[in-house]
Amino acid sequence: MATIGILGTGRMGVRLAEAFAKAGMQVILGSRDPRRAERVAKGLNVSGLTSGTYEEAVKAEFVLPAMFLRDGLIATLQPYRKALTGKIFIDITNPFNDDYSDFILPWDTSGAEELQGRFPETRIVGAFKNVWWEVFDAPTFDGTVSDVFVVGDDQAAKDAFMKISEPMPFRFVDAGRLANARVVERMTLLSGELGQRYGYFPRMNYRFVGEPWTPGAADRYAHLISPV
Ligand SMILES: NC(=O)c1ccc[n+]([C@@H]2O[C@H](COP(=O)([O-])OP(=O)(O)OC[C@H]3O[C@@H](n4cnc5c(N)ncnc54)[C@H](OP(=O)(O)O)[C@@H]3O)[C@@H](O)[C@H]2O)c1
Repeated sequence: MATIGILGTGRMGVRLAEAFAKAGMQVILGSRDPRRAERVAKGLNVSGLTSGTYEEAVKAEFVLPAMFLRDGLIATLQPYRKALTGKIFIDITNPFNDDYSDFILPWDTSGAEELQGRFPETRIVGAFKNVWWEVFDAPTFDGTVSDVFVVGDDQAAKDAFMKISEPMPFRFVDAGRLANARVVERMTLLSGELGQRYGYFPRMNYRFVGEPWTPGAADRYAHLISPV
């Protein structure tokens, strides 16, 4: 059975620990305060879920830090650099500032790329960035399964992540290279703003829609468009 270590017992960490355990993974939920993690794990009462320290959690095959960049995620992980070598690092960060009005990173980078730069020996897969915490509690919207956009430059790592996540009640969409995290993270900034404007916050998500199209199909408007 594959193992995943989740670091942090906040809104995302607790829900992801439960979701991965229910998906059949062996989960270790790590905390700065292992007694808090133990309390949470007992309260969730899902088989396959145990608790411990960050140090214990980073020993798992997949590692998912569930904390904010603004709260010092990079410095917190530095002591575990060696343990993280070669690991699939599931990055869920959105680089929000303290009041969630903007990002602490410029447009030409992303949380995922900053982490890959700081931990080049890990295999970063960006995921769950577009999923607001409340959505985990009911991931479908009027019967429609919502999407998780998955980004990364290491295709094998992305595939391994998508495989372990298969039983989860989301549709996992391969959203391409790691640099696409710039877009996905900012889509989350946008969905937060839209959610507030339309009174959905924090219960909203994306679903990419499309249908097969035949190249060369007749353009209904061809006769109206004059050649340039
Ligand atoms: N909230 C969302 O809807 C959402 C959606 C998508 C992605 N994300 C991303 O998920 C990550 C976690 O978000 P969250 O909403 O779960 O955060 P949160 O509720 O604030 O929880 C963060 C956890 O990080 C740990 N932590 C470690 N060092 C910390 C420090 N110096 N200050 C505060 N907490 C510290 C704490 O767990 P321990 O004390 O147990 O160690 C804390 O419970 C962020 O990167 C965020 O961008 C969030």
